[in-house]
Amino acid sequence: MSPFLVTRTLPEDATDAALRADVLHGLTRTPKTLPPKWFYDAHGSELFEKITELPEYYPTRAEREILVARAAEIAEATGARTLVELGSGSSDKTRHLLDAMPDLHTYVPVDVSESALTQAGQALIAERPSLDVHALIADFTGGLVLPGTPGPRLVAFLGGTIGNLLPAERATFLASVRSLLSPGDALLLGTDLVKDESVLVAAYDDAAGVTAAFNKNVLTVVDRELGADFDPDEFTHVALWDAEREWIEMRLRARSALTVKIPALDLAVDFAEGEEMRTEVSAKFREEGVRTELAAAGLDLTHWWTDAQGRFALSLSTAR
Ligand code: SAH
Ligand code: AVI
Repeated sequence: MSPFLVTRTLPEDATDAALRADVLHGLTRTPKTLPPKWFYDAHGSELFEKITELPEYYPTRAEREILVARAAEIAEATGARTLVELGSGSSDKTRHLLDAMPDLHTYVPVDVSESALTQAGQALIAERPSLDVHALIADFTGGLVLPGTPGPRLVAFLGGTIGNLLPAERATFLASVRSLLSPGDALLLGTDLVKDESVLVAAYDDAAGVTAAFNKNVLTVVDRELGADFDPDEFTHVALWDAEREWIEMRLRARSALTVKIPALDLAVDFAEGEEMRTEVSAKFREEGVRTELAAAGLDLTHWWTDAQGRFALSLSTAR
């Protein structure tokens, strides 16, 4: 069987320090914020997988439709021998790409969720014994160092996860992706598209309450890791569409005035009744905006594919 390597580029104490810094920064500013990468402990990753199956959450199905239709074209256009996937999660949709790439030498899934990476990697090597799988536990926003594997290289960033970065973070992130590529290497990028507000809000506020549980999971992570006493039942899940910025914003609203203690930071944080803390933005895109952001990072858009209903886009761009 081919090797399955897992490399931790994030030592546990660095992860802990990053969480402390994010919580201290985010909860001592106005309005309060927490970055979305902390949703994804093992339970958060499971909840995300449940979200992808919800009737209201169309992005996963829409992106899968495009991948099924275009995987052969992507394989042909890139000739990739190494596929790097950022925020790979369960790598479920990626299987359509892998099936279309018989000459692929190495698959490098990159994720902060160790549980998602390990499960996905073990399943993949069992299914594809000739593929090298080198999983990286790493933050894709922080100076990734990739293993030296054969080119050409294709970096995939699926699911619309780029929308979870703020605009300035996106520019920095795309420039760092470009720096991982040689001229002629490619980026396959999934972007959710601007659409009717009611469809968008339903996708982030489902009837079964799975997205609400996912949103509140960040509080459980802070409780467990930093000894905080957030009570998730004291908060309400909020999803709203910001028409000006064209993003969905998820928030947690305090049901009453309360104080949360965070012993690991020696901090007490006051929430007023009704105060909202931002936990995620999920930006929605238009073709011209994606083309412009890619170009600014030195990536030329060559292909733009959408699902039949025009809800989601996959773009392929080439490094200049
Ligand atoms: N690509 C998959 C999963 C999307 S969910 C899909 O399309 O279904 C987003 C994934 O990105 C999660 O697995 C999460 O753990 C990971 N993630 C979020 N922020 C990250 C970061 N800063 N660095 C690395 N992985 C991150
Ligand atoms: C991972 N990311 C693209 C998801 C999204 O749609 O922004 C995360 C998510 N948040 C709520 N539901 C799903």
